[in-house]
Amino acid sequence: MFLSRRQQLFTAMSDNSVAIFCAAEEQTRSRDTEFPFRQDSDFYYFSGFNEPKALLLLIKQAGETRTVLFNRSKDKLAEIWQGRRVGQEQAVESLVIDKALAVEELAELLHLELDGLDKVYLAQGRYPAYDQLIFSAIESLRNGLRQGFKAPSQIEDWRPIVDEMRLIKSADEVALMRKAGEISAAGHVRAMRSSKVGMFEYQLEAEIHHEFLMAGARSPAYGTIVGAGDNACILHYTENQSAMQNGDLVLIDAGAEYQMYAGDITRTFPVNGKFGPEQAKLYNIVLAAQVAAIEMLKPGVSIFEANQVVLNIMVSGLVELGIMQGDVATLIEEEAYKEYYMHGLGHWIGLDVHDVGDYYDVKRTRPLAEGMAITIEPGLYIPADADVSAAYKGVGIRIEDDVVITANGCEVLTADVPKTIAEIEALMAS
Ligand code: GLY
Ligand code: MN
Ligand code: MN
Repeated sequence: MFLSRRQQLFTAMSDNSVAIFCAAEEQTRSRDTEFPFRQDSDFYYFSGFNEPKALLLLIKQAGETRTVLFNRSKDKLAEIWQGRRVGQEQAVESLVIDKALAVEELAELLHLELDGLDKVYLAQGRYPAYDQLIFSAIESLRNGLRQGFKAPSQIEDWRPIVDEMRLIKSADEVALMRKAGEISAAGHVRAMRSSKVGMFEYQLEAEIHHEFLMAGARSPAYGTIVGAGDNACILHYTENQSAMQNGDLVLIDAGAEYQMYAGDITRTFPVNGKFGPEQAKLYNIVLAAQVAAIEMLKPGVSIFEANQVVLNIMVSGLVELGIMQGDVATLIEEEAYKEYYMHGLGHWIGLDVHDVGDYYDVKRTRPLAEGMAITIEPGLYIPADADVSAAYKGVGIRIEDDVVITANGCEVLTADVPKTIAEIEALMAS
């Protein structure tokens, strides 16, 4: 998987160039403790290497290619305190690279790897400390012209090339995403089974994370959202501190990260296991919209087109319920629905939950193609202070699944968690 990606990038690179990828930096949590390390997605995509303090160089020179890694050296004392290190010798073998050098000597050695090249591909600005080291290496080549050094004269961003590569998922990636989807779904099923009036939102979060960890997904792919009642109307609510009341719907947006790939599921269900009649009406509008959007996905269709179908269903539904008034087409045209549906329909998903890739424009009119993975997540949010009939207030509903586009349709990666009212109520009663 990693070798074929390197090959694909080499093909896109101009001759006499190097593409440089930097490992993520460790982040302080408090004083001398750190957040769990999460590798940079692009660095991982090409290296498969999970340690901090590393640089990957993909070099194409005179038609030949080579891969060089700078990584941490073996260090008995550091390894006793902080954990094992692969070191140079083992890295060459296990990561299938041509050469590994000590990152502790980066400042002394980097320029030698760049000598004679014309171009450096670099995601400038992402890791300023590494940028500085790379520019110093180039500068020392410029200053060493008399010793026969030749400095690269061009810097180019590799992101446009790499983002397009990452946008199309290989069969291996889809398999990992399927697993991330399964684990995420299991977390949601467990939350539905565990829900009880009076529980705190964080206790449902605990049930979900338990399921993730037990399946080997050590971290959620983003901050888990458990919002009951009016809290569901705060889109990125992660406080998860409230007690859940009888009659509340609870919105859970949670996804596992499995072998670096994200799941991203939202389900909304009644805390007490039974939808109220008005809640059910609103819920079925969102569900109909979500199902209709997924049904139309195939190569050539855009997220924008799917969202037009969603808007038609949702705005018609809101007008029928008397929550919105007026002509459906005009309400859509004037974006009046944004009071209740204020986010996009979906996003690319992969190594990052909001994955890389060009959408073409804010409307997301890019035609989908086989191998693209997206979320479909329409929602309706009617806060407690909305000017609507009391029965609809304090309700936030979102339904989100992850799909991958196939040759003539799509595969739903997160289908293992119910979403119809009948299925949800049956599961919660079981
Ligand atoms: N949980 C982030 C999102 O749904 O986009
Ligand atoms: Mn989500
Ligand atoms: Mn999402």
